Amino acid sequence: MSSFSADWLALREPYDLRARNPAVLDAVVAWCKDIFAIKFVDLGCGTGSTFRALAPCLRGPQNWRLFDNDLGLLARAAATAPSATVTVTATPLDLGRDLEAALDGAIDIITTSALLDLVSERWLERLAIEITARSIPLYAAISHDGRIEIVPSDPFDRTIVAAVNLHQRTDKGFGPALGGTSASCAITQLKSFGYSVVHGTSDWVLEPHDCDIQMELFSSWAAAARQTGQVPADTVNWLARRRESVAARQSSIRVGHVDFWAHQTGNL
Ligand SMILES: C[S@@+](CC[C@H](N)C(=O)[O-])C[C@H]1O[C@@H](n2cnc3c(N)ncnc32)[C@H](O)[C@@H]1O
Repeated sequence: MSSFSADWLALREPYDLRARNPAVLDAVVAWCKDIFAIKFVDLGCGTGSTFRALAPCLRGPQNWRLFDNDLGLLARAAATAPSATVTVTATPLDLGRDLEAALDGAIDIITTSALLDLVSERWLERLAIEITARSIPLYAAISHDGRIEIVPSDPFDRTIVAAVNLHQRTDKGFGPALGGTSASCAITQLKSFGYSVVHGTSDWVLEPHDCDIQMELFSSWAAAARQTGQVPADTVNWLARRRESVAARQSSIRVGHVDFWAHQTGNL
């Protein structure tokens, strides 16, 4: 599975949903409740995971404009409008190049999930400048923060995790990626622009019975680590040991993420 395939996004969605930080989500919902016919823009929507997580928490009409550069994912996203009062449009766009085009028109709130760790500091600045100029709030969920804990431990884990985090910082189409530092960079930047921020962890907690997602993660981490050229050849043996452990239902993983809600309070 590739990291943006529909199959991978479907596999991870229930874990993302369970992981979303409840205090951050409550703050988003509380802010939205007074706005009639609220207008969302979701950046890097995939198949619409953020829309599916948030739309049912809100009452009243909603308009969602979803953006991604993958036509197959967008087609799936557009097909999931849940009710007559919720409208969804899905638009293809390269957000690396044309972010500003996604922010055209009236917007009440910008959302994104599992995107910020792919972007560069420069891109984050562009986003922050655009939204600050118009006082638009941002709900950004499930940004990886670099923490990966695996039980039982393996002597090679530290090498693999370091290589995975190095790989996370390579260019994903937005310039050199911020990887595990993306949420803290965004929070610092938005606070310096006068935003109030509510944030909290949204870790995946994968238990021994969560075999499919663990198998996928270990395979993708081994591949990412190999691509960095920074790990010795026995990555293959590490992966074999990890797969055995998952198959024996003895493996647990915690993957660290951060959610945040940033909005202007008018106290600048
Ligand atoms: C990890 S997925 C997250 C998808 C979705 N937000 C979710 O939480 O399931 C990252 C998404 O960013 C999209 N993406 C990556 N680079 C992009 C770009 N340059 N322009 C627009 N979308 C992009 C991918 O197609 C993918 O849908």
